[in-house]
Amino acid sequence: MRSMFRNSALLSGLVTQDQVDEAIAHLRSSGSLSATAVELDDSLLAARLVEKGILTPYQADQIRSGRTKLNLGPYIITEWIGQGGMGQVFKALHQVMGRESAVKVLPLTKSTPEAVNNFNREIRTQAQLDHPNLVRAYDAGRDGNVHYLVVEYVPGTDLRRLVRSQGPLTQQQAASVILQAARGLEHAHQRGLIHRDVKPGNILVTPKGIAKVSDLGLAGFMNEAEADPRAGKIVGTADYLSPEQIRTPTEITHASDIYSLGCTLYYAVCGKVPFPGGTARDKARRHCEETPWHPRRFNLDLHEEFVDVIADMMEKDPRNRIPTASEVVARLEQWAGDASPIAARSAIRSPWTAPPLPAAPDGEDRADNLQDTDGGEPSSGLESPSQISQLSQASQQTASQGAASQETLPAKPGRIRPVTAGATGSGSSALSSASGIFSTPISKWPTTTVVAVTLAVAVPVSMFVGALVASVLFYLMR
Ligand SMILES: Nc1ncnc2c1ncn2[C@@H]1O[C@H](COP(=O)(O)OP(=O)(O)OP(=O)(O)O)[C@@H](O)[C@H]1O
Ligand SMILES: [Mg+2]
Repeated sequence: MRSMFRNSALLSGLVTQDQVDEAIAHLRSSGSLSATAVELDDSLLAARLVEKGILTPYQADQIRSGRTKLNLGPYIITEWIGQGGMGQVFKALHQVMGRESAVKVLPLTKSTPEAVNNFNREIRTQAQLDHPNLVRAYDAGRDGNVHYLVVEYVPGTDLRRLVRSQGPLTQQQAASVILQAARGLEHAHQRGLIHRDVKPGNILVTPKGIAKVSDLGLAGFMNEAEADPRAGKIVGTADYLSPEQIRTPTEITHASDIYSLGCTLYYAVCGKVPFPGGTARDKARRHCEETPWHPRRFNLDLHEEFVDVIADMMEKDPRNRIPTASEVVARLEQWAGDASPIAARSAIRSPWTAPPLPAAPDGEDRADNLQDTDGGEPSSGLESPSQISQLSQASQQTASQGAASQETLPAKPGRIRPVTAGATGSGSSALSSASGIFSTPISKWPTTTVVAVTLAVAVPVSMFVGALVASVLFYLMR
């Protein structure tokens, strides 16, 4: 019986002859396959092997397209998880240990001997870290010319995907996620490691609401290969860069991670990055010079003191910023409560066919990631793309207006651009209602006015009536 699929499946080593025979026997006995058929229907055989749990759907698809190698060293690839700036991420099982892991494939362009040495050094350092809020690094290996990193598999999604799929988090959810991330970072900082690439995509969130920081130390490795033609795309991270990473990248301290975590918190509650629109260069300049829109412009439920924490994390001068991750934890604790389920859906997968294992050239398709620099998409209940671009235009045009509107400044002026009626434009009722939040409370005006008017009217009237009554009494008594 002829079958391309059967041959490839056997060659992959994932399926034995006995398992194939059993599957064919089952297809025949169930009537799906005639006893005299010469060609074996590949899709039926694949479906049966998936049904029996012998292959995963990803493996079956890959084998059907003729691939026979579905491992990287001792790691059997079971699923495609996603594509990041570094390369593709797969779910895998260790052939012997059976442990579920995530395998990150390094782009070939980054795999120069020097970069790989550097990378291995980072992994050794990372491997010393052991904290529930840090993704654990298990192993690093090489298969042919493909270098890969093996880390703890974290079910669920990441903060970027979470916000993109369900809109901004509540204050409590965001506080809980960022507080946990700060705990993980504190552990790393105490051991002399700086993350350098803290951003929503690098905070993984399990369905139970447990947050884990991933890709610690990889930014250093990624920055090695300056000649990489993809470098321009990787600066999607410009949305979370600290001013000192831009000005003096060789002299940064862990305070830089606090700034990026502040931007991440901003994104989590606003559904927008602090400086949407523009090029990476524009964003870098704005991180150094401008203040972002007040978070309550996008999320009216935020408490003023909570907004202060964001602002204190995003201070441009590291000397004025919250200095340590443990202080971030302390400041967020009152808002966080216990970690609670927030990822309603498990990992959001691409609707497209999953790509093959390594070797294939690293996809250039980072559109998905780059859109994130504006932080919003219609599905999240935020503005439409045209409104987003209006917002971004408004934010550029009204930078100085905001600074001039002192009566509407937030508690700590200058760090977060205030919500002003002038800046909101005319079309948004949500924004116009927000514009009053930082003004003198309007509720006091009617009360004062009513009292003043009452007194102004009542006093002369009562005087007049009193005088009238006195005159009448005087007249009657005469
Ligand atoms: N340890 C892990 N367990 C489960 N999923 C993961 C793990 N690490 C990454 N992912 C998922 O894989 C996808 C790609 O991740 P990756 O870290 O490569 O990219 P990114 O963080 O989005 O962007 P960048 O590479 O620019 O940091 C994301 O959807 C992420 O949620
Ligand atoms: Mg990442």
